[in-house]
Amino acid sequence: MKAREWLEKAKQEQFAIGAFNVGNIETFKAIAQAAANKKSPVIIESSPGETKWMEPENVVDLAKNYSAEYQIPILVNLDHGESLQDCLLAAEAGYDLIHFDGGKLPYEQYLAQLKQVVEAAHHKNLTVEGEIDHIAGSSEVHTGSASTQFQTAQMTNPQKAGQFVKEAGIDIFAAFFGNVHGVYAEGGENLHFDLLRQIAQATNCFLSLHGGSGIPDDQVKEAIKLGIVKINVNTEMRQAFKDTLQKVLQDNPQEYAMYKIEPPVVEAVQKIVEHKIDVFGSADKA
Ligand code: 13P
Repeated sequence: MKAREWLEKAKQEQFAIGAFNVGNIETFKAIAQAAANKKSPVIIESSPGETKWMEPENVVDLAKNYSAEYQIPILVNLDHGESLQDCLLAAEAGYDLIHFDGGKLPYEQYLAQLKQVVEAAHHKNLTVEGEIDHIAGSSEVHTGSASTQFQTAQMTNPQKAGQFVKEAGIDIFAAFFGNVHGVYAEGGENLHFDLLRQIAQATNCFLSLHGGSGIPDDQVKEAIKLGIVKINVNTEMRQAFKDTLQKVLQDNPQEYAMYKIEPPVVEAVQKIVEHKIDVFGSADKA
């Protein structure tokens, strides 16, 4: 099934597909094993930095290999592509979903380039995700509270979003309704459900939830009921990876074989992904 069909199935059956970032083969393994255990479809995704590090062809090939090995659907998403070139390269490499975040471009220029991406992607039956609000935060562990991120950020205006989706012809809209990227030591996020309802009505397309780390599970479930079908998760996996690796290295100073150091790290990341799959309701949907 293509990405569009999976998103349609998620919409009909009220679940969301997790889009999990990959930074190396260990995170890849963790996501694939979690999806296999839970019999869940998954999206693996790479940001521009992760794409450069992994190299797009490797991301696509690893997804194919793990999908065949574990007999589970693995789709590949470009996460926050920043330029027309980023998006076209990913489409060429074999990505299934292309997210073009025009936050760094003037609106008219972004819209014009996004239309080109839509045309190229739809030609290959790929989906395109657009974003106009620059969803706040970053995929890191922050010391302050999530609310400080809103001082400079404005949430989605439903009318503007509706107009944008129609003009650009995109498939997925990245909605900003209280969700921020990252984990916050002094207080997490609170989603604004009335705003999400209005966005869903005005856009009438698939909706994604960015900043999937640190949002209380009950709020995530409510957002899925209101139409969210794709949820991006990165920081909680990064945190599990780093904390566990640090501990394993500390506890085993004489161990030098990577394949002996990494299993507990993979297991820790896998646990995060399995929990998210349960919350998103995508288990047993593969
Ligand atoms: P988190 O880092 O908050 O999980 O967000 C990830 C994300 O939205 C990637 O696009």
